[in-house]
Amino acid sequence: MELQIKDFEDYEKTYRYSVEHPEEFWAGIADTFFWRKKWTNVLNWNFKEPNIKWFENGKLNITENCLDRHIYTNGDKPAIIWEPNDPTESARVLSYKQLLEKVEQFANVLKNNGVRKGDRVCIYLPMVPELAIAVLSCARVGAIHSVVFGGFSAQSIADRINDAECSLVITADGNYRGTKVVELKSIVDDALVQCKTINKVIVLTRARIGVSMIKGRDVWWEDEIHKVESQGNPAYPAEEMDAEDPLFVLYTSGSTGKPKGVVHTTAGYMVYTGYTFSNVFQYKSDEVFFCTADIGWITGHSYIVYGPLSQGATSLMFEGIPTWPDAGRLWDVVAKHKVNILYTAPTAIRSLMAAGDQYIDDKDLSTITKLGSVGEPINEEAWHWYNEKVGKGKAPIVDTWWQTENGGILISAIAGITPTKPGYAMLPLPGVQPVLMDENGKILEGNGVSGNLCIKFPWPGMLRTTWGDHERCRLTYFSTYEDMYFTGDGCLRDEEGYYRITGRVDDVLNVSGHRIGTAELENAINMHSDVVESAIVGYPHPVKGQGIYAFVIVEDHQKDLELTRKDINATVVRLIGAIARPDKIQFVRDLPKTRSGKIMRRILRKIVEGDFANVGDTTTLLDPSVVEEIKEGADKMK
Ligand code: PRX
Repeated sequence: MELQIKDFEDYEKTYRYSVEHPEEFWAGIADTFFWRKKWTNVLNWNFKEPNIKWFENGKLNITENCLDRHIYTNGDKPAIIWEPNDPTESARVLSYKQLLEKVEQFANVLKNNGVRKGDRVCIYLPMVPELAIAVLSCARVGAIHSVVFGGFSAQSIADRINDAECSLVITADGNYRGTKVVELKSIVDDALVQCKTINKVIVLTRARIGVSMIKGRDVWWEDEIHKVESQGNPAYPAEEMDAEDPLFVLYTSGSTGKPKGVVHTTAGYMVYTGYTFSNVFQYKSDEVFFCTADIGWITGHSYIVYGPLSQGATSLMFEGIPTWPDAGRLWDVVAKHKVNILYTAPTAIRSLMAAGDQYIDDKDLSTITKLGSVGEPINEEAWHWYNEKVGKGKAPIVDTWWQTENGGILISAIAGITPTKPGYAMLPLPGVQPVLMDENGKILEGNGVSGNLCIKFPWPGMLRTTWGDHERCRLTYFSTYEDMYFTGDGCLRDEEGYYRITGRVDDVLNVSGHRIGTAELENAINMHSDVVESAIVGYPHPVKGQGIYAFVIVEDHQKDLELTRKDINATVVRLIGAIARPDKIQFVRDLPKTRSGKIMRRILRKIVEGDFANVGDTTTLLDPSVVEEIKEGADKMK
């Protein structure tokens, strides 16, 4: 089967075929990959338990698909182009051949340090090629990687390590971000005080800052590589994995409790990311693909590492931030590396747009032929700026909707093949069966309807479980609607049948494209000794999409509240990370609660949106007068 859809007619035909004959459809896609042994059964599933198995009894290793198979045909092609934080430092290019050598080398390092198939390895690294090498090396030896975004705190790392019982951490001395150096190793040291399962830490030299190395536990990446070299650089044949062996765990926030470890398995994830990468971006063999995400998030896993590499593409990795040394940096990177496809987030587009056109107008963006957006709804203004300033009106924009749990893109235009419309994710990819549900749990048929977005049939890239707690997976995604995967998103299907994602319908915020669980954040704020209770809601933010608004009850109102505000921020940064720091903190005497003690977030949401007129009925509240007080306070916060 050809992987790429050819035209709109082909899309319609393929879509129909994928619904009528899903197993044949996916078997055809899977056939384009390299298997040590083919599957005996394409799909076995139920959404009740849930129990989802794709390509049962198939044997493979994803790195043979991402690396080895390209060596014979295209070994010298750049696999990874790396652009450093500092524009005066040299870029690095790793061909497929070189990347495979490095992965085999580091797979040997992992083996030498006791890592075996099935072990969990935590990766906390900057956006340097070694991050991709570490990820792929884990996959090579059959270890399950758990990448933690470099912006998370020591506590967040510890929680993730303990949940997955990781045995080894891979980190670096420090991480450059613009003019700042983040002391990664020192953060890991703080985390490990709480972790009993870690017996080795491999430390990469990046920022050349002083670190404390603990005897017997900590080793340098470079020293370990030298050891492998002195052993004569033995090859590392890829471990044979079962199709359903876990490939990685990635933690993501939900509406309740601590982040969940979303588990993706080998074959389904590989097939799905390869298929969606090739199709959505219509990748052609010499194109340079630039996804600006961090590998610490699912977008980086799927569209910097696995998707592009399984398709033999050239993937550009950028260590820095789009606004340093100035707001033209991203465009400089595009020009320097002749990027053809740019995949970024609306929040980045909005911040570069706000910086002013003088940063983009004189840049050479002539190589760009396709653009992508991901992570949050894109507003029309940002869409048009992206289209006109970046794509010069000639590059189709694919607004790709998906989630950590999905593995890859589910609803999106296919670049140059299916239509686009500002703010719309458009149409499901072949193989994806979305449905909209009303509040009574009935499927909304036809067009011109809005409801909760569910997927009614499995796709290979979907999560299989949440690490260590299958019941939590069932409850979160498969119990709201019978026999459906529930996304947590609201969605409109317009008169023409095009999909528009309207945002989360649960208590999850989307701040600069990052998922923040309100319960998790409230728990962090409540840890502060002066705080009695708190409630978090999102509010419209011009750059971040949503900003974080915290209502906080403190014990002593006479205290210096400015200081308390700073202390609360510091508490959040320590317990979660800077991405969860509230934008606004309003101190309140009480929160609007029902007689049974439930916080009425709907009221708080209306207040922070400034929509005082639609706060609704407050008579059922325990103390209706708090609403007026909060409104007054909110007015002063503006
Ligand atoms: O609300 C949707 C929003 O981001 C959520 C998923 O977040 P995460 O798991 O961190 O994955 C982000 C990158 C895949 C979704 O539930 N979201 C993601 N893409 C879009 C989007 N909202 C609107 N339009 C999108 N294109």
